[in-house]
Order: sequence, then structure tokens, then C-alpha cells
Amino acid sequence: MERIGIIGGTGIYDPELFGEKERKEVVTPYGRASPAFIGELGGRSVVFMPRHGLRHELPPHRVNYRANIYALRQLGVSRIIATNSVGSINPRLAPGDLVVPHDFIDFTRTRRATFYDTETVHVDMTSPYCGELRRALISAGRSAGGVWDRGVYAATEGPRFETPAEIRMLSLLGCDIVGMTGIPEAVLARELEMCYASVATVTNYAAGIKQEKLTATEVVEVVRHNQEKLRRLIVEAVALIPGQRGCPCASALEEARI
Ligand code: HPA
Repeated sequence: MERIGIIGGTGIYDPELFGEKERKEVVTPYGRASPAFIGELGGRSVVFMPRHGLRHELPPHRVNYRANIYALRQLGVSRIIATNSVGSINPRLAPGDLVVPHDFIDFTRTRRATFYDTETVHVDMTSPYCGELRRALISAGRSAGGVWDRGVYAATEGPRFETPAEIRMLSLLGCDIVGMTGIPEAVLARELEMCYASVATVTNYAAGIKQEKLTATEVVEVVRHNQEKLRRLIVEAVALIPGQRGCPCASALEEARI
């Protein structure tokens, strides 16, 4: 059965948000994945996975991204909607806004970012996020009060927040939002020919922009405040995802091997 995966980011841990029925602990060749919950949304089978664990015990640099994506694949997931919390670099994006990124720049440093260590596989990232999933999220976003339908996501290593100079640099490079978990997830999903798109909640202005200080507490508070809006958007987006995949993600490995 083809299932839709939902990866919950900071503040989105409660499996009941997405119709939990059955818990699965999956051990993969890459190690143990975060817990997965099989459920149903509007008649479609979904798997919810809180990326950081149920009590946020895994910081961004310790999440086993390979195990998580592999486990979702093993559970029959072919399409993934991820949620992320992000800081705003582009001052037009305000706390509480939702963004569906269309591109990213990867500044992470310590992560295992590929499934292919013993053969050479170069997946195409010209369209880094699945167009079909992005369209579903953007359409669903219209009734949720609007989402930003583009944005360049800067992935930083964390777990510390960025410095103002780093944010100025990211701004000069064209980044709109910054977070610590969007990569390598998007890359690993592509490597397994899975569709992947993300909806990011802006929780704060990034370091040095319109604020003196940045706290993890405010990040969690803003996510919690926006949780119901985000949940509704995802439920609606799941209903809008076409029954059959019509995007190129399913053949991402064609002509990718050397
Ligand atoms: N930087 C990095 N990650 C984040 C931020 C931020 O400002 N806000 C929420 N996640």
C-alpha cells in the first residue's frame, strides 16, 4: 500500500494530530528510526514520525535522518510532507507565517547525507522539492489564511542558533529562511525516489534581525500557537495529493549512477 508520510518537527510530537492507530519501532540497516505511527486521514493511510522523538530527545545534529527516511520507505511511504520550524532571514516573512520552500542551500557539516557510500549516485536536485506535493501544500494553504509559495531554505548545523554575521551572509546568498533539520531529509528522500516537500513555520526573525535575543522557548511557543493551523493545512493537503504520482521523483535514480 502507498502511504503518505508526515514528519513532525519541533513542537509537533503528538501522534493523535494525524490519526494515530498503531505504533511501529523500526530498526533499519542505518540504525533505529524515530517512532512511527500508522494512522488514517480522510481515508488515506498515513505514517506520522516525530523527527526528534516523542520528548524531543534528539537534537537536530543527532537525528538519524537515514534511518528515518529508510523506515518510512519500509512502511510503504512514497510521499513525505515534512514540517520544520525556521527563523526568518527575509524580513517580509513574519513569525507565524508558513512557507513552502522551493530550494535550499546546505550548510550542514556532520551529517550522513547519502545512502550511497559504495557506489556513485548523483541525484538531480534541479527541482529539490516535489512539485506535486508543493502544489498540494500551497493549495491547502489558501484556506489556512495563505502560505508563502516560495522560499530558499538555509540548512545550518546547529544546535546553536546562528550569529548575526552568518545571517547577513545567508541573506546575501539569497536565503529566505533558516533551520537545522530540512537537510539531509530532502536529499535522502530523493535518493530513495520518494516525493518530499516541507511546510515551514516561521517562529522568529533570525539572529540580528528585528530582535536582540533568540530563545528556544519562543520557537516552541510559536509552533504550539500555530499547531492547529498547520495540522489543518496538512490534513487538507493530504486530501489534495493525487492518487497516482505524476512527478519525476519516482524515477530519480534513472541515469543517476556512474
Ligand atoms: N535558526 C535556525 N533554526 C531555527 C531558527 C533559527 O533562527 N528558528 C527555528 N529554527
